[in-house]
Amino acid sequence: MYAQLVETGAKKVPTLAEMTPEEQAFQAKIDAGIKIEAKDWMPEGYRKTLVRQISQHAHSEIVGQLPEGNWITRAPSLKRKSILLAKVQDEGGHGLYLYSAAETLGVSREQMVDDLHAGKARYSSIFNYPTLTWADMGAIGWLVDGAAIINQIPLCRCSFGPYARAMVRICKEESFHQRQGYDIMISLMRGTAAQQAMAQDALNRWWWPSLMMFGPSDAESINSAQSAQWGIKLFSNDELRQKMVDQTVPQAEHLGLRIPDPDLKWNEERGHYDFGAIERDEFYSVLKGNGPCNKERLATRVKAHEDGAWFRDALMAHAEKRAARAGKAA
Ligand code: 3HC
Repeated sequence: MYAQLVETGAKKVPTLAEMTPEEQAFQAKIDAGIKIEAKDWMPEGYRKTLVRQISQHAHSEIVGQLPEGNWITRAPSLKRKSILLAKVQDEGGHGLYLYSAAETLGVSREQMVDDLHAGKARYSSIFNYPTLTWADMGAIGWLVDGAAIINQIPLCRCSFGPYARAMVRICKEESFHQRQGYDIMISLMRGTAAQQAMAQDALNRWWWPSLMMFGPSDAESINSAQSAQWGIKLFSNDELRQKMVDQTVPQAEHLGLRIPDPDLKWNEERGHYDFGAIERDEFYSVLKGNGPCNKERLATRVKAHEDGAWFRDALMAHAEKRAARAGKAA
């Protein structure tokens, strides 16, 4: 995949001959599938790429709690409420795992959170869309967590040990997230005409933003080639997007839902679905902060962080007091 990316004109990456002896030895470990651990020597660019990607992944998990949190108090039954509550709590845990994995690279939690709040660090575009009906809970679990699984299973085999290990448990929990979403869509499609229309409306609104989760096209991806050479990205953005479409279309057909893409067609020769291109302008506009909910999401995160400052301070004071007492006793 990496060689193909270089041909597509993505950001050029150094050839072995252009690397220092240390970088060549590092690349040999990557190519041999040897995991890189936090204390190992690594090129500064590798460290920076991982801090960027893992912290943005963590931010996505935390901000991703907001769209679904909006429906916990309005779930249609106690069963659905407890399932959604468990899912939203899981996402918080995923964020903490990932912040911890990023911290092994020498960046502090405070710095990462400050970068998010200052708009210097991203989170996934998908969380900048509103959740308008209960069917959105189904579409998010089915499509967004479905996309996350496709993107994250390869990360369980990525070259950086702490990230790969964090992803194993996260992917197991994502499978539950996707299953419960699909189960909501099944219930709605077995319901009234109004419920079926609600499910179709949710698919119409979430289909394309879910495909945007995989990033820009390979030709426009600035990081893919280097991330591929470093064994961080095992498949390209377009390969994973294709996998998502191939997997999801039969699921939609089973539900009796129509995918909102007039270009969608099975291509026997390719053995894949042909489908339309993501809306570039919309994608980059959301990345620039102009999506439907960007401002609201960030403001909510900043307010929650500020409102929780007293609690963090109390925890720190308590921990310092205990440490001082333990010091005295020793
Ligand atoms: N949303 C926001 N930014 C995006 C994006 C998206 N959907 N897709 C790409 N970008 C950004 C990249 O961060 C990069 O910008 P940067 O250099 O300033 O960080 C730029 O667009 C170019 O994209 P590239 O393809 O060159 O960047 P990457 O190689 O980093 O690929 C990625 C982007 C595929 C998202 C990759 O970072 C990745 O696999 N990240 C790990 C998985 C992840 O973060 N998933 C987010 C969703 S988390 C989630 O779904 C939670 C679940 O519980 C629902």
